[in-house]
Order: sequence, then C-alpha cells, then structure tokens
Amino acid sequence: MIIETDEDLAKLQKIGRICALTLQEMLAAVRAGMTTKELDEMGGKILARYGATSAPMAVYDFPGYTCISINNEIAHGIPGDRVIKPGDMVNIDVSAELDGYFGDNGATMLVGSGDRMGQRLLKASKEALANAITAAVADRPLNHIGRAIENTAHRHGLKLIRNLCGHGVGHTLHDEPEMIDNYYDPRDKRRLAEGLVIAIEPFISEQENMVMQSKRDGWTLYTPHGTRAAQFEHTIVVTKKRPIILTQAD
Ligand code: CO
Ligand code: CO
Repeated sequence: MIIETDEDLAKLQKIGRICALTLQEMLAAVRAGMTTKELDEMGGKILARYGATSAPMAVYDFPGYTCISINNEIAHGIPGDRVIKPGDMVNIDVSAELDGYFGDNGATMLVGSGDRMGQRLLKASKEALANAITAAVADRPLNHIGRAIENTAHRHGLKLIRNLCGHGVGHTLHDEPEMIDNYYDPRDKRRLAEGLVIAIEPFISEQENMVMQSKRDGWTLYTPHGTRAAQFEHTIVVTKKRPIILTQAD
C-alpha cells in the first residue's frame, strides 16, 4: 500500500511495533531443549496480549502463529515437536494484523555462540538488510534494493536465495509490489513511490541459491543440499530521505 493519511502511518507504526516486540521477546526466550511449538505458543500469547492477530494463520491458514525455521529450513517452518538444540540456527518470522493493517518482520539467531559460518551468515544478512533499507529512497529504482543485497552477499563471499523475495505490505500481508527481488535485475524498471510500504527480507546463504517446498507438509521451504541461510526482515515506509522502519521495538 501507499500511505495516504496520518492515520495510515500511525496504525502501521502500531502493528509494526507489536510485531517487533513479539519477535524480540521470542528471540530472547529461545533455549536449547524447548520445542518450536512452545516458542510459537508464547508468540501467539504475546500477539493476543496486544490484541493483534497472527497474519499467516488468519490469511493463509498456516498451522502456527509464527514461522519458525531451523538450520536448512529457510522459511515457513511449522512450529511443532522439534526440539531446539545447541548450535541450531533459528529463524523466527512474525507477521500480524491489527485494525486492518499488517506488519512483518523476521530475524535469525544461533543457539549458544554457534559456529563461524553461522556467525558470518547472521552478520552478512543483517548488513544486507541495512544496506537495502538505505537504498530504498523515493523515486529511485526498486532494483537498487536487490543490488544492495546482492553486493553485500558477494562482499562477504556468500550467496543468496534467489527464489525468496521481499514484498509490499499494508492493508494485506502480501501487497503490491508483489516481488522485490533480493538480487539485481537490470530489466526491472519499477521505481519506489513515496509512502510505499514494503517488507525487505534478504536470505543470505552459505552455498545454495534456491529453496524447495516440502512435499510432506506443504509449507516448509528448505535447501535440498542441507546448507543454511539467514534472514532478517523489516517493514518500512519509503520516503524522500531515510525510510521509516515500522517494525521497531522502541
Ligand atoms: Co516475514
Ligand atoms: Co515478509
């Protein structure tokens, strides 16, 4: 969506903050030995406490309040009886709705200090998101977002998942523009409008550049060769200067 009124902005900031607080609280609660379902139920309670509704559950009938993906599960992992182990790479993605407005954010962490490659993935992915946010300026080409992400991945000697992308958000979870590529596509001639609300979510990968959908559960997106990728995501509003980050806890 494109923001038209002060009320639009205020309501997006409200749900954005709820998504951020929920994600933050869930990340802080991750412990080896807990199941992803326990973590997800905590997320569901936090959302309910703020009066918000899980977007994947309400919109797509996803079997969980949040998506929790571990190691080579890259996105849309279903919370269940999987036990979180020391060294696991855990991705939590929280998207939710309040008063007809949606927010979407995600983050990846290692349980314990993790391994060096894991730490590299987290660092590069965080940096890719920051650089992509800096590139998202009104009237500039939309593909500058993907270019910033791709450049960051390559600078770190890493790859990126090419068949996962960012997206518009606002009155729906997946709004116009439908696809914001995480790589540079010179043929993409779209420009960023002032007030456009988008979710940017790079997936920086150690080796593979494509994910597949699990035939078993119909949801989980995973790397077929078992390598990992780290995602960080924010919902932002494009302005003529620095974007407004909506999914911020404070
Ligand atoms: Co998300
Ligand atoms: Co998203």
